[in-house]
Amino acid sequence: MDEYIKRTIIEFQKNEITEHIFYDILAKKAKGENAKILMKISRDELRHYHEWKKYSGKEVKPCKFTIFKYLLISKIFGLTFAIKMMEKGEEKAEKEYEK
Ligand SMILES: [Fe+2]
Repeated sequence: MDEYIKRTIIEFQKNEITEHIFYDILAKKAKGENAKILMKISRDELRHYHEWKKYSGKEVKPCKFTIFKYLLISKIFGLTFAIKMMEKGEEKAEKEYEK
């Protein structure tokens, strides 16, 4: 596999596992319907991670700094704002893939 593609896939994997952990932490802190939704998103992100893993054949660690950053943002600006910011990051990653 092309080295650039390999690096890009690993980058995607890192984003997915980081988002998985982020949503998991939020889900555990939330209650009721919010907790259920966040847990579902967390599981979806983990599924995306495993999809990419099929191509890379590698385990990738989450970015602790990013998790910390978004948790801090969610504390200061609220959950919705932090999630929107994080999803924008994912959109950027998807655009990279379309290139
Ligand atoms: Fe994802």
